[in-house]
Amino acid sequence: MQISVIGCGYLGAVHAVCMAQLGHSVVGIDVDAAKVAGLAAGEVPFFEPGLSDLLAASLQSGRLRFSTAIDEVRGADVHFIAVGTPQADDSLAADLGYVDAAVTALLPHLASGSLVVGKSTVPVGTAARLADLIEAAGARLAWNPEFLREGFAIADTLRPDRIVYGVRPGDGQSVTTLDAVYAAAIDRETPRIVTDFATAELVKVAANAFLATKISFINAMADIADATGADVTQLAEAIGYDERIGRRFLNAGLGFGGGCLPKDIRGFLARADELGAGESLGFLREVDALNSRRRERMVGLAQELCGGSVAGARIAVLGLAFKPDSDDVRDSPALDVAVRLRELGAEVRATDPQAVSSSRRIHPQLDYVASAEDAVAGADLVLLLTEWQQYRELDPAAIGSLVTTRMLVDGRNCLDPASWRSAGWVYRAPGRP
Ligand code: UGA
Repeated sequence: MQISVIGCGYLGAVHAVCMAQLGHSVVGIDVDAAKVAGLAAGEVPFFEPGLSDLLAASLQSGRLRFSTAIDEVRGADVHFIAVGTPQADDSLAADLGYVDAAVTALLPHLASGSLVVGKSTVPVGTAARLADLIEAAGARLAWNPEFLREGFAIADTLRPDRIVYGVRPGDGQSVTTLDAVYAAAIDRETPRIVTDFATAELVKVAANAFLATKISFINAMADIADATGADVTQLAEAIGYDERIGRRFLNAGLGFGGGCLPKDIRGFLARADELGAGESLGFLREVDALNSRRRERMVGLAQELCGGSVAGARIAVLGLAFKPDSDDVRDSPALDVAVRLRELGAEVRATDPQAVSSSRRIHPQLDYVASAEDAVAGADLVLLLTEWQQYRELDPAAIGSLVTTRMLVDGRNCLDPASWRSAGWVYRAPGRP
C-alpha cells in the first residue's frame, strides 16, 4: 500500500520504518528539515535498539523516503498522524497544536476515499472533531492508538500484543483498509478490537494510567516497607505470582518518567475535569504526587547518608535516562535528582551509556563523564538511578577500590544487596531493609 506518516518523532519514525519493513511504500513527513535530512541519510535522531539497521534496510529497499513537503503525501491510500501531544505549558492538558496543524496541512491533499489514521495520544473527543473536517474533504478517519515502549519500539510495532481501531459506526471500509496495512499481524491472529472513536482514544490513556498506578502502588508499598522493616522486592514477587496482579511493572524505586506516562495521566485528568468527571480520576492526582515524592525521598536519603547535607559531597550518579535502553531524558527521575543534588551544593558527577548528550542539552551545568568508573572515582556516595544492564553487572570490589566511601543507593532495586554489603558497602534502597 502507499502510506504517508506525518510526524517523524519517536512514534512516527519507528512507524514509517516498520511500515516499509512490512512491504508498504512509505513517505515520512516532518516540518523539521534537519530531522528529515538525517533520516533520509540513515541517521536515527534518538537511541532505539535495532532501528538504525532497519532504517538503512528500508531506505535501501526503495520503499521509504522522507520529506518536508506535505504535498508528497498525494497518492497515499493511508495517512498516519504521528505527531506529538506534549503537556501544555500552562496547564495539565495535552497540547493539540501539532495534531491540528498536521490535519490542516493534510486536508487539501486528501484524495477522495483515502483514510487518515490517528496514532497520536489525544484527549477523548478529538477524533470526532477531526472526523468532521476530514469527511468534509471526502476522506475517512480511524483512530488506531499505539502502545510501543521505548527500547522495544520495533518489536511492539511489528508484533503488537493487540490492535485497536476506532471507527465511525458501520465503517467497514476503514476496517478493511487497516487490516490490509496490518495484514502480517492479522494473519498471526493478533487480538483486534474494533470500536468507536471515544473508546479507542480512551484505551490508550487508560492503559498508561493503569501502568502509572501500578508503579505508584508498589512505591507506596515501598514507603510502608521502609516504615516497618519489610522488603518491597519480596512483597512484589509474592503478590506478583497472583495472575490477577502480575509481577510486571511492580519494580519499586525512583518512579516513572519519560514522554508518555507523566503527561498522559495529567492530560487524562484535565480532560476528565472538562467532562465533569474529574472526581472519578482523583486517584491519578495521588499517583502523580506519589511519583514526584520518589525524587524528593531520593534526595532526602542522599542528604541523610551524607550526614544531613550534601553540600560539598562528591556524588556519583549512574544513569540519567528515564529508563534503560533509551537516551530519552524527558521528565527523567534520574536527571531530576542529579540536578536537585547539584542545586543543594553537591559535586555531582553523572554518567549514562546513551543519555549524556541529551542531558547536557537541557542541563549543561552538570559535570558529565563517559563511564561509571570515571563517575565514581573519589566519590563519597554512589547513586544508581537508571538500571542499565552494565550497572547491574558492576563489580562491588572493583568499584569499591575507586570510591572514597563505600556508600551506595540502589534507586531501582536492581542490585543484590548481599554481594555489595559483603564487599564492605553501605547499601540502601527504597523499600528494602
Ligand atoms: C509507556 C507505555 O509502557 C507504552 O505502552 C506506551 O505505548 C508508551 O508509554 C506511550 O504512551 O507511548 P515508555 O514511556 O516507553 O512506554 O516507558 P515504560 O516502559 O512504560 O516506563 C515508564 C517509566 O516507568 C520509566 O521511567 C520506568 O523506569 C518506570 N517504571 C517502569 C518503574 O518505575 N517501575 C516499573 O516497574 C516499570
